[in-house]
Amino acid sequence: MLALALVGCGGMGRRHITGLHKLQEIGAQRWELVAVCDVIPENALRAANLAEDLLGKRPMVFASTEELQAASNKADAVIVTTSPDLHAPIGIVALAAGMHVMVEKPIALTVGQGASLIDAANRANRKLAVAENYRRDPINRLARALIDADVLGPLHLFSQSFSGLGGKVIITPWRHRRRSGGIVVDMGIHYADLMEYFVGPIQQVFGFNAIVDKQRVDDAGTRHDVDAEDLSVGVAQFENGAIGNWLIDLAGRGASHFTRIAYGLGGTLSIPHDRSGRSLELTLRQSGQDLRIEPAEQLALVPDFQLDDVTAKLFGGTRLSSYQLEFQHIDANLLAIEHADFAAAIIDDRAPEVDGEVGLRSLAISYGFLEAERLGRPLTIKELTGSLNTPYQSELDLPARGGVS
Ligand SMILES: NC(=O)c1ccc[n+]([C@@H]2O[C@H](COP(=O)([O-])OP(=O)(O)OC[C@H]3O[C@@H](n4cnc5c(N)ncnc54)[C@H](O)[C@@H]3O)[C@@H](O)[C@H]2O)c1
Repeated sequence: MLALALVGCGGMGRRHITGLHKLQEIGAQRWELVAVCDVIPENALRAANLAEDLLGKRPMVFASTEELQAASNKADAVIVTTSPDLHAPIGIVALAAGMHVMVEKPIALTVGQGASLIDAANRANRKLAVAENYRRDPINRLARALIDADVLGPLHLFSQSFSGLGGKVIITPWRHRRRSGGIVVDMGIHYADLMEYFVGPIQQVFGFNAIVDKQRVDDAGTRHDVDAEDLSVGVAQFENGAIGNWLIDLAGRGASHFTRIAYGLGGTLSIPHDRSGRSLELTLRQSGQDLRIEPAEQLALVPDFQLDDVTAKLFGGTRLSSYQLEFQHIDANLLAIEHADFAAAIIDDRAPEVDGEVGLRSLAISYGFLEAERLGRPLTIKELTGSLNTPYQSELDLPARGGVS
């Protein structure tokens, strides 16, 4: 067993414990959760209680990363589930102490901080993984297999579009402040990852953005000031020539919508909301007619498609075109798949599926839509991950709000 510490015991930290529990349930556990750490003592205690209930053993409780560092001989690896501004500072401390690191998405607050984290992992010769869960959904795996099998022919357009959640605090107030990781990046990072997962590398981006809701209201009725964009409309050009559009409207009122569609010369693939379990909608042009391809026929188009063992055990099948599970179980399963991949990367000495470089590209793309507007021209991902002076992120890289403890 690999010894694991969890830093950040808020909503996502606790969800990671349910992911570890899923691995235990299917007999694929390679982790022992030895420590939880949070600067808010009741959050750490709540996580320790949950771990004891679900995993059968109570982890140690630490109140700061310094305490965790002092106990670093007790953990092989750490999962960092704090707000994004602390991913790099905490990750770098953990790597220097000899631990492998998985950070929640986004890899870091800024591309510069993400690059420092990657450098620290290389220097320490330790694994760095980014917990990007959406691509691991079995339905996204099938969508990727269909695209890889060239069922759609050459892709010319990919559309990713969401509107909804206007006026409300989305999970936590920090998501509406730029210096802890604004919501367009916090949510958009998943979409950036998936755009590249389905279509291939993005070459350049341009966008227009706005802060529509200057204040948002939480569930208790408290109003919170907002300084991070909640509307981002962008265009991306992929290296293979396809064009992508990105629309994230978190000020949306009225009818909410979500669409994700790949358009090829052979037809369209409509990919449902992640973690919904709904089947893909594939429509192919055959002999001049646009024909709907039912899920069983979709599977027949990819005879070699197989989910990996852990995913198959968690979701109940090796070749799934849909599934029906409650959200909390779907969510925990996807985190379990991340944990299994992270453990295998350490044990087999290979890169995790979403390593630092992959995570950094998604961050560069998400900020690219904001930076391009500031600079008044399309920006390449090479520039955005290179030495380009990025004004939006430069403002975030000012001295940190607080220490890492
Ligand atoms: N992949 C997903 O689907 C998904 C969903 C939600 C959140 N996330 C990501 O998970 C991360 C955490 O989000 P959240 O919603 O759990 O936030 P949260 O605010 O609920 O939890 C963050 C926790 O970190 C703690 N913390 C702050 N500073 C700390 C420090 N120095 N040391 C230890 N703990 C510290 C806070 O006290 C808090 O308990 C973010 O990066 C977010 O983007 C991912």
